Formats: sequence, C-alpha cells, structure tokens
Amino acid sequence: MIDVWNIRKDFPCLHQSIHEHRYIYLDSAATTHKPQSVIDAMTRFYAESYGTVHRAIYHLAAQATSHYETARESVRKFLGAKHREEIIFVKGTTEGINLVAHSFGKAYIKPSDEIIISETEHHANIVPWQLLCQERGAVLRVVPVDDRGDLILEQYEKLLSEKTRLVSIAHIANATGATHPVEEIIQMAHAKGAFVLLDAAQSAAHTPLDVSSLDVDFLVFSGHKALGPTGIGVLYGKKHLLDEMPPYQTGGDMIDTVRFDKTSFQPPPLRFEAGTPNIAGVIGLGAAISYIEQIGREKIRAYEELLTEHACRRLESIPGVRLIGMPRHRAPIISFVCKDAHPLDVGTLLDLKGVSMRTGHHCAQPTMARFGVSSTIRLSLAVYNTIEEIDLMSAALEETLLLLRGV
Ligand SMILES: Cc1ncc(COP(=O)(O)O)c(C=O)c1O
Repeated sequence: MIDVWNIRKDFPCLHQSIHEHRYIYLDSAATTHKPQSVIDAMTRFYAESYGTVHRAIYHLAAQATSHYETARESVRKFLGAKHREEIIFVKGTTEGINLVAHSFGKAYIKPSDEIIISETEHHANIVPWQLLCQERGAVLRVVPVDDRGDLILEQYEKLLSEKTRLVSIAHIANATGATHPVEEIIQMAHAKGAFVLLDAAQSAAHTPLDVSSLDVDFLVFSGHKALGPTGIGVLYGKKHLLDEMPPYQTGGDMIDTVRFDKTSFQPPPLRFEAGTPNIAGVIGLGAAISYIEQIGREKIRAYEELLTEHACRRLESIPGVRLIGMPRHRAPIISFVCKDAHPLDVGTLLDLKGVSMRTGHHCAQPTMARFGVSSTIRLSLAVYNTIEEIDLMSAALEETLLLLRGV
C-alpha cells in the first residue's frame, strides 16, 4: 500500500487554505496537481539549461535535445511502445485526436467508410470525427451504453462491419467513470479490419497501459491529467501507420528539404512535431512519468479503488444523492446529482468550504442527454487524495444540501 501522507508532501499546491478552510481537491479528472519534482525539472530547464532542440550545435541546445529525447524514451517505456518513432509530442489529448482525424483521415478515410465512437465520449472524441465524416462523406456510428454507463457490447458487435475503418473510444469515460473493456473492443475491431484509437486521457495516470499487449493502433493522453504540465500530451501511433500519414501541421523541424516547387518531410516523429515544441512541457512530462513509475501504477490503481469505493458508499448514504452511472468497473470518477439542489449551487457552496469539485456537463453533453440530466457534480480522485478528505467532503455536502433545501 502507498504512503499517501508522504506522497502529499510532494504536492505543494495541496497545502493551502481556500476560503479559510483546508483545501480539498477532488477534480483530478479535469487536471491533476504537480509534484515538486515536475516543477523542479521545468524550473531547472529554464534556469540552468535552456535551449532549443534538434537544430543548434551549441552546448545547451544539445543538452535540451538530449533531455527532450530522453523524455520521449520514458514515454515509450511508460506505454510499452516498440519504437521511439511511435511517440509524438502534441499539446494534449484534444490535439492528438485532431491530428489523427486530419492526417489518418486524409490518408485512410473514404466515402461510405464508418467510424465508431461511444455514447459517452468527451467532446474531443466526438467533434473531430463528426467533421471528418462530413468532409469525407463517411458515416459516424455511436455505440450506446446501458443504464450503468457500460458499453453495450452486443450493439457494438452489430455496428462493426467491413465498412468500419476506425473505432475511437475512451478507455475511461470522463463523466461516468466507466472503464471500458478495451482489450475486447480492440480485438473485435481488428477482427473486422478496423483500426482503434484509445483516448487514455483518464487512464494514463491511474492504471497500467501497454500499447503492445493491447495491440492498439493509436493512443492519446494529456500530461496535465497525469501529474505533468499543461500544454503537453502524447500521441502513440503504430509505426507503419504513422509512416503512411501526411503532416498535420507544417513548418520548421518537420521538413527534410524545402524548395519553392516542392517540400519533402521528415519521417515520424518529427513529421508531426512542426515548429519549436513545448520543450519544458516535455521535460516536465518526463519527470511526471518518473514520479508515477516510482510509486507504481498497480499500487496507484489499488489505492484509488479503495478511495473510490469509500466515496461511493459515503455519497450513497446521503439522502437525495443519486449517482449518474453505476459502471461495473469504475475508475476514480463519480458523477452525481442532488434532489432539490442545482449542481452549480452545490459546487459554489462547497467551494466556500474549501472543497473543489467540477460541476456542469464535463464536455460530455451526449452523456448528460443519455442520463436525462443537463449537468452533474463530479468527484474525481488521484493518488494524493485521502479517506479523510472524502469524509470531509461528504460532511460539507450534507451541510450544503440542508442549507439549499432550507432545512
Ligand atoms: C476522456 C477525455 N478525452 C479528452 C479530453 C480532452 O483533454 P485535453 O483537454 O487535455 O486535451 C478529456 C479532458 O477532460 C477527457 O476526459
């Protein structure tokens, strides 16, 4: 078991008061706090060894390139990828999905092809495919979820056909916390000759991931949801697919030769990293991965499962609280609504008690529609949260609901 009190010492931002209350942060699905080692790695880069990458001969630039490429190697190992060329640095999950939609879309999607997503995707895994389908004359298909928020696999099987070109699915649904059976989803897609993109935004920091054993074709995640900085994320793609894909953006660093009549491009990963990249972000992400690996993703998952079970029990014991989605395999994300209390009011009053929880549609309006609500309150956990914080949240929520109901 992990020593959470020691872990908490590594997160400076957690140790403060908000509105004169102890700060209780329960919104890690939106973004996680950063350990000191990530902050230090980025500060050291800016203060001591700042330079550009891939293009200059002088000492600090060579050092920056070495740090940048060392981080790429850390990500490769973290994801279990076979080749460093399969790791592309992007701004985040959103950019990773857009890159695949534009580039893979151009190279692989033809009229009447079909793309499958699920009913509980984040908007970032809906809109790029919708636009791509409109552009290419392809068709977007949506796998429904049951009342628990679990994907209905029989429906998925029915939707899959020889026309299916790509399945793009979240590993963990950000508004319900449902962990989808990705091994099965990938095998079933491959059996029909379709490719699979896994949106690992909500799983990268919480559960072991291995792209080689999953045999997934693309995977994306955001650094800022995995203890790393904002503005950096990763796209993993199988080498033979990336090799065939055209550039997404063009400019410096991604070219081989430029003439006015024709330009040739670098092979991946540089083909997809146009312009001066987010070097500090990459270095911070490398430090975040080291931090996660030091604790161990199996240990993180086991600990977060304990916290999640406790949080579910506490929430369910509060009169008028209704959980939205009861997935069989729940990640550390719980959405709920409260009788006679609007989520926004609950969130605002909880903030006054030092408790930070997200309210709204969580960039998942179709999920809200599926469950017949317009917004929820979402509690989400990370490795630095404690049972005590859940108890404090639960007491604060009870008080808040009494106040809002005028009891
Ligand atoms: C499942 C999922 N996909 C995609 C995203 C978008 O991530 P980002 O805003 O970091 O690009 C999120 C963010 O909440 C998410 O939860």
